Amino acid sequence: MNEEYGLLEAGEDGAVGDEWEDIDVADTEADRIARRQDREFLEFRKRIKNTERLKVEASVFDDATLGALYKLVQDGHIDAFGGPISTGKEANVYTALAPDGEVAVKVYRINASDFRQMREYLDGDPRFEGIGSDKKKVVVAWTKKEFANLNRARNAGVRVPEPIAIERNVLVMEYLGGEDQRAKRLNEVDVENPRTAFEVVREYMRRLYSAGLIHGDLSEYNVVVHEGELCLLDLGQAVTVHHPNSREFLERDCYNVAAFFRRQGLEIDEDALLAAVTDPDPDPSGGGEREA
Ligand SMILES: Nc1ncnc2c1ncn2[C@@H]1O[C@H](COP(=O)(O)OP(=O)(O)O)[C@@H](O)[C@H]1O
Ligand SMILES: [Mg+2]
Repeated sequence: MNEEYGLLEAGEDGAVGDEWEDIDVADTEADRIARRQDREFLEFRKRIKNTERLKVEASVFDDATLGALYKLVQDGHIDAFGGPISTGKEANVYTALAPDGEVAVKVYRINASDFRQMREYLDGDPRFEGIGSDKKKVVVAWTKKEFANLNRARNAGVRVPEPIAIERNVLVMEYLGGEDQRAKRLNEVDVENPRTAFEVVREYMRRLYSAGLIHGDLSEYNVVVHEGELCLLDLGQAVTVHHPNSREFLERDCYNVAAFFRRQGLEIDEDALLAAVTDPDPDPSGGGEREA
């Protein structure tokens, strides 16, 4: 029956748009650890605080965030903390050693100064009703949202870092990069074959859209090249198509992507790209380019 009517089987996450039903931003284990302050946690805290390469970012590691890292260590997701890969407005990204190799650890700052943008993506989203403006709750929900979005993107066949674990405001994911360098962003490389790269990004956008997701901050800064593949990053702000501003976010994504590939010498039209992304039954020859 399903096949006959072209219905999609629900993936692991359940039906589109429902992954927030059980969103729980109550007190976390990490908060309890931070409050309990047992001897081992205090030693862990001292070790992190004394780590030279993490010192400049001391403000990121408040006690509850340290509690979250400690919990991730106890649960076997992290063995040792590496150095910072990126210091952003809302989050910092670090490398860490895990039992199976390197991982990336994204730590959202609870006291991030700029909440304006975060709110723009949360306001009017029914999944966030009742969260209010409590900073901790917003950031914890945001972290869960990025984790769920990464899973949904993967299930839709979009290359993103594999999400591994979350705890409070900390997300552990697959590390993209080599031993001594993170994967380069699209804006940092000479794009050898812009046509192919564009087609891949367009197909990823289309797959996300068919899975009910819009990236919302797509540009050459959130696409990296890893082992010859393009991978999308930074899905925290991605919204479902139900979001009241989803169209505007999608148009902006198309605008950014089209502008980047135009700078690579392609003739890309953002309206045609938008049409290709939202087309449920795409012509295999694609779209997004002006008629010659
Ligand atoms: N899983 C990862 N593996 C390797 N590098 C990463 C990973 N996630 C993020 N980065 C690096 O950190 C930067 C910032 O991460 P991102 O998720 O885009 O956060 P922000 O919200 O600060 O832009 C990225 O541009 C990328 O260079
Ligand atoms: Mg980014």
